[in-house]
Amino acid sequence: MSFVRAFGSAAALIALTPLAVLARAPDAPAAPQRVAEAPHAMVAAANPYAVQAGLKVLKAGGSAVDAAVAVQAMLGLVEPQSSGLGGGAFMVYYDAKTKKTVIYNGRETAPAGATADMFEENGQPLNHFVGVLSGRSIGAIGAIPMLAMAQREHGRLPWRSLFGEAERLADRGFPMSPRMARSVALFLRLAKTPDSIAFFTKADGTIYQAGDLFKNPAYAATLHRLAAEGPSALTRGEIADAIAAKAHEAPRPGTLTAADLAAYRPKMDAPLCRPYRAYVICAPPPPGGGVGVLEILGVLEHSDIATRGPKDPAAWGEFVAASRLGYADRDYYVGDPAFVHVPTQGLIDPAYDRARAALMPTDGLAAPAPTHGTPPGASAPGPDHTAEPGGTTDFAIVDADGNVVSMTTTVESVFGSGRTTHGFFLNNQLTDFSFTPLNEDGAPAANAVAPGKRPRSSMSPVIVFEKRADGSPGRFVMALGSPGGNSIIAYVAKALVGIIDWKMSAEDAIALPNIVARGAVVSVERGADPAVIAYLKEKGLNVEADQGEDSGLHAVVKTAHGYLGAADPRREGAPAGY
Ligand code: DON
Repeated sequence: MSFVRAFGSAAALIALTPLAVLARAPDAPAAPQRVAEAPHAMVAAANPYAVQAGLKVLKAGGSAVDAAVAVQAMLGLVEPQSSGLGGGAFMVYYDAKTKKTVIYNGRETAPAGATADMFEENGQPLNHFVGVLSGRSIGAIGAIPMLAMAQREHGRLPWRSLFGEAERLADRGFPMSPRMARSVALFLRLAKTPDSIAFFTKADGTIYQAGDLFKNPAYAATLHRLAAEGPSALTRGEIADAIAAKAHEAPRPGTLTAADLAAYRPKMDAPLCRPYRAYVICAPPPPGGGVGVLEILGVLEHSDIATRGPKDPAAWGEFVAASRLGYADRDYYVGDPAFVHVPTQGLIDPAYDRARAALMPTDGLAAPAPTHGTPPGASAPGPDHTAEPGGTTDFAIVDADGNVVSMTTTVESVFGSGRTTHGFFLNNQLTDFSFTPLNEDGAPAANAVAPGKRPRSSMSPVIVFEKRADGSPGRFVMALGSPGGNSIIAYVAKALVGIIDWKMSAEDAIALPNIVARGAVVSVERGADPAVIAYLKEKGLNVEADQGEDSGLHAVVKTAHGYLGAADPRREGAPAGY
C-alpha cells in the first residue's frame, strides 16, 4: 500500500501522488548497481552507506549479526523515513555452525496504560493518520534491544565497535538521497509536525533537498552513548525519559512511560517453517507476517503457476486468487499469540491449504472478497479494523562463515509518528493494532490493543533452505524480505514464486511488477503487462491499475561461486560483498 493511499482521506485532500511515483522522479541519479556477486560474504540493503558499513564489519571479521547492528545504525541516519533507533524489527537468523534458525522478535509493545479503545473517539475509530501523529501511536522500542540480544549471542566483535561509521557520517554529513528528500517533502506537505520541521529545515529557513549535505550531530551523540552503554542507553535514563515525554505531548497524548521502555523484552521465537516445492521457507511466526506468505504459497502449491510463467496472465490470476484467500485468513486470525489464540499451524496445514486451493477459481477470482476459512485449531477471534501504511526497510546479510541475517525493520509509517528526540524518529507502530476492540458482531478482535501486547505485523523476512528427504530444512538457499505495510506479504510471495517457480534471477523476480490482492481490490503496479490487467478485469475483479506498489525487496542468494546480492530498483540499495 502506498504511503498516501494508506493515509486515507486526510492525505487525499492534500495530495494524490503516491510515493512510488515520486520514487521514480526524473531527478533520480543513475541507477546504482542492483546486483553484486562475491565469493565470501554479502550485504543487500536499501542504502549504499548502510551496505558499506555492514561490509566493513564483515571484512573486519565481524559476524552477520555484528554487520546487522552496523547496517541498522547507518539506516537510522541515511533512511530515517523507514527505520531506526525508535522502531522495531523482526530478524530471522541462521547459524551455520549449529544449523539452527531462530527468530529474534523486536516488535514494539503497547504501554501498560494502553486500552483497547485508545484509537476510538466518541465510539468511532480515529482517522488513521490522526492516530499516526498522536502520542498514542508510540510503542516501547524494540529494534535495538533485539539486536543487542542477538549480538550477545552471535556477535564476534565488541558491541561498542559497531557504530563508528554511522557516528562519523552523522557528524560529517552526507548528501541527502533523492528518496529521503522526497519523503521529507511529502511528509512536510502532509504532516508538518513541529519536530519534523525542525529536523529538516536548513539554517537559511529552506527545506533540505536531494544532494544537500545533511548532518545529524544529535544522532551521532546518541550512537556514541549507545555504543558505550548498550541498549539501556535508550531504554533507561535521560533518553528514555525524553521518549516518554514526547509520547505525552499533544496532540492526543499517549501513556508510554520510561518504565514501559525499561520493561521491554525482545523475544526469541521458533521459526515458522513450511516446505514449498523443493525448499523449506522459514519466517517469523505471528505477530509477524510469515504465516500469510506461507499460506499463499501453500495454496499455490496446488496450482499450475510454476509451469505457466510470468508472461501468462492466468499465472497472475492464480497468484491473485491465492493472495486473496491467504490475506482473508491472516487478517481474521492473526494477533499477538502471547495474548490471543492464533491457529498458526492450521493456516499452513497441507490439507487445509489444499481445501483453500479448491476455492481459487470461485472465491479467489470472484468480485466479492473471499472470507476467512476455518483452519484446524481455529477458535474464531474475529476480524478487525487494522490499517498498515508505509515506512520500513529490509536487509539480508551472509558472513564468511555462512551465518545469515534476514531482517525487516521499521518505524511503521514514513518518519513514524513524526516526533523526534536525540536525533531519531519515534515509531507509530501501535497504529498497526485494530482501531476498534470488537468486530461488528461484538466478538473481540485478534489484533485489539492490550497493555504489553505486540501489534500485528506484515513483516516477513524469510530464509529459504533446500528441503531434505524428511521435509526438514537443509542447506541455505537465500534470504529475502521487503517493506510495504500489509503488501509485504504479496511482495515476498511474488519474489519467491519468481525465483522458485519461474526460475528467474533474484533481481528479475524482485523487479517484476507487484500485484497485491487483499480484500475487494486488486492493486496492480504501473508497468504491469496490459494483458494481465485485462485478464483480471475479465474475471470480474475490481482492478486498480497503475498503482504505486512500492516494495523494497532485498535478497542474498547462494550461488555456485559464493553469493549474489540483489536490490529492488524501486529503492536506492546497491548490494556489495567480498
Ligand atoms: O509491521 C508492519 O507490518 C508495518 N508496520 C510495516 C510498515 C511498512 O512496511 C511500510 N513500508 N513501506
